Amino acid sequence: TEGGSDGAKRRAGDRAAEAVEDGFVVGLGTGSTAACAIRALGRAVDDGLEIRGIPTSFQARKLALEVGIPLTDLDAVDGVDVAIDGADQIVDAPDAPAHGALIKGGGGAHAREKLVDSAADRFVVVADPSKLTDRLDNPVPVEVLPDAHSVVADRIRELDGEPMLRNAERKDGPIVTDNGNLVLDCAFGAIDDPDGLAMQLSRLPGVVEHGLFVGLADMTYVGSEDGVDTRRY
Ligand code: A5P
Repeated sequence: TEGGSDGAKRRAGDRAAEAVEDGFVVGLGTGSTAACAIRALGRAVDDGLEIRGIPTSFQARKLALEVGIPLTDLDAVDGVDVAIDGADQIVDAPDAPAHGALIKGGGGAHAREKLVDSAADRFVVVADPSKLTDRLDNPVPVEVLPDAHSVVADRIRELDGEPMLRNAERKDGPIVTDNGNLVLDCAFGAIDDPDGLAMQLSRLPGVVEHGLFVGLADMTYVGSEDGVDTRRY
């Protein structure tokens, strides 16, 4: 049977997929919640919905092919109508400036996710309630050029962060991203100013992309035991 969080993810994914219309170009996110949306879109395509998907990762591409979603890429389209993607943490504090800011990159896919999600007219986040927080405090995934990891790690320490090279589980050594790079998971404690930190990280030579998504999400569907809550930003 389906666990509580699986049901919540499925309800969020289903709801996001329902908003996709004929003719849309759709950014296909990474992770288990976005996968629920991709499966729902696959069923809609079976029923005649005409869309083209732009995957944000190897994983999303593989699933989209399995469920029969025609694929395209950013170079081949005029724009992206909607992107549907998960998140690792979401600020849920309507009065805070960072309301709707995200940490992504738990799956190491955040560079392509940020590219596709920010290209979309509408970026819809899908999540279960465990992702909601008052303040971001997860480590921030930072994708770096392989040659740059020690230098960037030094710069992260100067910003009072603690960098950890992400290691592979079934391989001796670091994980390698879909882009052939490495990931530093950088703990900063509670992040009071995500936008400021995002700009500092983006400035570092050797950083390909970091997992702070500030001011990008347009809405979040939060699935629960019995329904879906909507946040608009
Ligand atoms: C991938 O790099 C992440 O940004 C994912 O979108 C994130 O890890 C969400 O995954 P789940 O929906 O499985 O929690």
